[in-house]
Amino acid sequence: MRVVIQEDYEKMCLFAAQHIADRIHHHKENRPFVLGLPTGSSPVGVYKELVRMNRAGKLSFANVITFNMDEYVGLDHENDQSYWYFMHDNLFNHLTDMKPENIHILNGMAKDLQAECDAYEQAIRDCGGIDLFMGGIGVDGHLAFNEPYTSLFSRTGIRKLTEDTRIVNSRFFGNDPEKVPSCALSVGTGTVMDAREVLILINGHNKAEALAKTVEGSVSQQCPCSVLQMHNDAIIACDEAACGQLRVDTYRYFRDVEKDHRL
Ligand code: GLP
Repeated sequence: MRVVIQEDYEKMCLFAAQHIADRIHHHKENRPFVLGLPTGSSPVGVYKELVRMNRAGKLSFANVITFNMDEYVGLDHENDQSYWYFMHDNLFNHLTDMKPENIHILNGMAKDLQAECDAYEQAIRDCGGIDLFMGGIGVDGHLAFNEPYTSLFSRTGIRKLTEDTRIVNSRFFGNDPEKVPSCALSVGTGTVMDAREVLILINGHNKAEALAKTVEGSVSQQCPCSVLQMHNDAIIACDEAACGQLRVDTYRYFRDVEKDHRL
């Protein structure tokens, strides 16, 4: 696992956006580049930069297929808290050459939710698998909506949200945890692990414990993100604020080995 520590949130986002752009530019295979994407506040700055590059003519999405990580159950596209709405509002609507048919987001309004999840896994396989999965992390270490104690081998499916997550996410629902949907559809931890490369954004003091558990803790379902220690090509992009609970020698180690990647 690589840990690339940037000075602040803006630089973390610039690094992540540049990394994604490099991967898209260097993609040589005879099929589109397949990109996994998250929602949440962490990726907002990355999306801004990707849009800037795209509109400046420096990055094309014409040959990119996307799969989002998760979606709330019971929110339709018009709902401004649905992840469908978020993705269009923050990214897709602003790109000049993203093909709507290349956008995949789980449908939390599907009649048969499990069938929707199974079809999603199949669609990922049909595209040749995910080349790069960008993600965020919950304060409890959750990855997508795989809460602590979800199997580290889980596949796309229906997830019940913990009370903790509903409280944290209530900031988008008038600060009322009861208004946060109690279920979501989510790719599994196993689905993320299948990606050829994983890039996780971790920023801010409130993520310090989750970052330390992810990097230094044992691989445990208690912190789903820790499974990335077993991935061959995983990068944690973080800011200084999130490093508050890393051991000093861990922090120094990554500052040293990744110094060429610090912006
Ligand atoms: C939600 C999403 C996760 C996301 C997490 C962190 O629970 N399901 O995919 O990583 O929130 O969000 P934020 O980036 O806003 O801290």
